[in-house]
Amino acid sequence: MCGIVAYLGDKEAYPILINGLRRLEYRGYDSAGVALMNGDVLTIHKCQGKVSDLESHVVGKSLSGSIGIGHTRWATHGPPNDVNAHPHRSTSGDLALIHNGIIENYASIKEELGHRGHIFQSDTDTEVLVHLIDDIQRTEKVDLAEAVRLALASVVGAYAIVVLDSKEPDLMVAARKSSPLVIGIGEGEFFCASDATPIVEHTKNVVYLEDGEIAVIDRTNGLKIRNVKNQEKTPFIQELEMHLETLEKGGYDHFMLKEINEQPRSIRDSMRGRLNLAKGEVVLGGIKDYEQKFVNAKRILIVGCGTSWHAGMVGEYLFEEFARIPVEVEYASEFRYRNPIVNENDLVIAISQSGETADTLAAIELAKNRGATIIGICNVVGSSIARVTHAGSYTHAGPEIGVASTKAFTAQVTVLTLMALMVGQKKGVLSGSNFYRLLNELDAIPEKVQKVLATEAQIKYIADIYKDATNALYLGRGYSFPVALEGALKLKEISYIHAEGYPAAEMKHGPIALIDEEMPVFVIATKGASYEKVVSNIQEVKARKGKIIAIVTQGDSVVRELADHVIEIPETPDALVPLLSVIPFQLISYHIAVMRGCNVDQPRNLAKSVTVE
Ligand code: G6P
Repeated sequence: MCGIVAYLGDKEAYPILINGLRRLEYRGYDSAGVALMNGDVLTIHKCQGKVSDLESHVVGKSLSGSIGIGHTRWATHGPPNDVNAHPHRSTSGDLALIHNGIIENYASIKEELGHRGHIFQSDTDTEVLVHLIDDIQRTEKVDLAEAVRLALASVVGAYAIVVLDSKEPDLMVAARKSSPLVIGIGEGEFFCASDATPIVEHTKNVVYLEDGEIAVIDRTNGLKIRNVKNQEKTPFIQELEMHLETLEKGGYDHFMLKEINEQPRSIRDSMRGRLNLAKGEVVLGGIKDYEQKFVNAKRILIVGCGTSWHAGMVGEYLFEEFARIPVEVEYASEFRYRNPIVNENDLVIAISQSGETADTLAAIELAKNRGATIIGICNVVGSSIARVTHAGSYTHAGPEIGVASTKAFTAQVTVLTLMALMVGQKKGVLSGSNFYRLLNELDAIPEKVQKVLATEAQIKYIADIYKDATNALYLGRGYSFPVALEGALKLKEISYIHAEGYPAAEMKHGPIALIDEEMPVFVIATKGASYEKVVSNIQEVKARKGKIIAIVTQGDSVVRELADHVIEIPETPDALVPLLSVIPFQLISYHIAVMRGCNVDQPRNLAKSVTVE
């Protein structure tokens, strides 16, 4: 949540910052601002609204400066308005600061600083930090870098910050703890950002700042890193693998639609080099050394949030069916505060697209401290979760920018499928022929996804009929239950229609009371283990005049008779159905949201990377 970007070099900073903020807008979009340093003149422009509002706001204003910081906000402390927007300035006016995270002890610091004459303009926790740094500079007579270090020693919470000081006009200071920060190193220029997306078009050389590290970036001396204990660190420079075109809409109206349509490729990329049909094997290089841990695991715990948690639920069914290992799927936010029973015999799989979700990070920390082995499934290379886990497999779906997760879900499920198949084979649970059959079926999924995508015109037609619904129900059983949850989440996230996902058989224990002729009921009724049972559930909905939109296996005639609409997907084993059945749900939510005039890529109140708990 909140995106930060900074530049120091020979170029004009403003265009670089604005471009960077546009890339980071998925992290928050309720206000935006920049601070520019031109010589020793520090100017701040900020306003409520999106980055485009900031662009209108600065028309005709002075935008010169070759050092600058920019911020796009997702409000935590204080409502979104002009005053609470970042950057924040110190009382002296010398310092400007941007922040992603939460300063938990801000109230006590604020009180103390208030007694010392500091006057605060905003309701934010961030403003307290800039006053604190300013205060330390004056009382301790230290430079900016040292004042930041001393200030951070007394701060409790999470932060990624960048600070400018007009008294030291060739310098910027950045620091992180529990919120991400990447530093780009170009030719005589430096960048800081919440992720690499604003940096990649300028340089491929980056340093991921570690927790507790402070980066001092100086025109003359370049980049120096030290930690809060004042120990010097050698920057570890890595090369980015990201490509610029993956950050553009590529002709689509929205990132979400682009990302939905990318799934044949992104699923293929998740399997690339891992699924080897010729040799009949699955090789997951990142967890190779941990294969035995999987094979011997008495229990697997899967932690995640949101869509990643839904992928984890599919993982539960996969590991239980193919590897016969008991699995528990936990919301990271619940797990971390529950004093859960975890020990060294447990294997924990942490799933996160961004690799930065605060609750998932905290859940990992807890399980790690109790001796469990932690395996990550992340999309963002170099992210915090990818770095704190013992081992893991990247999903390789490419950057996901639409706030509603689509291709990340199918990539996570693909990786979980590969893991479960690999463990099932190694444990001897899956027979050779069954294993080989499933590998072939998995290999065929990208083409089948392509076929599902071809139903878009029909889905758009259905979307038009139900776009004004106020409620919707999503039903599925077995592997399709998590997909029902995911379908409902997609609809509510981007179209603001209340929707619930339910195991089809549970409908009769409550939701059935809601069904009337106004209620669209989306049902996954593919041929498989619970087909007949789901057909009975459809009958129950029909008897109460609910409108049935069913996802069925190609050629199904039974459900076609009962349902108001059917969307056909190609035949595949039950375990792989989620990879196909989720696609119509993504598309239906997308089209309904567009028809309702909603901002699909930036739904209200949401952010993609939730770095606060
Ligand atoms: C936010 C996003 C969701 C995402 C969830 C978990 O709520 O809007 O799309 O599923 O966070 O994020 P993660 O990056 O950990 O998968």
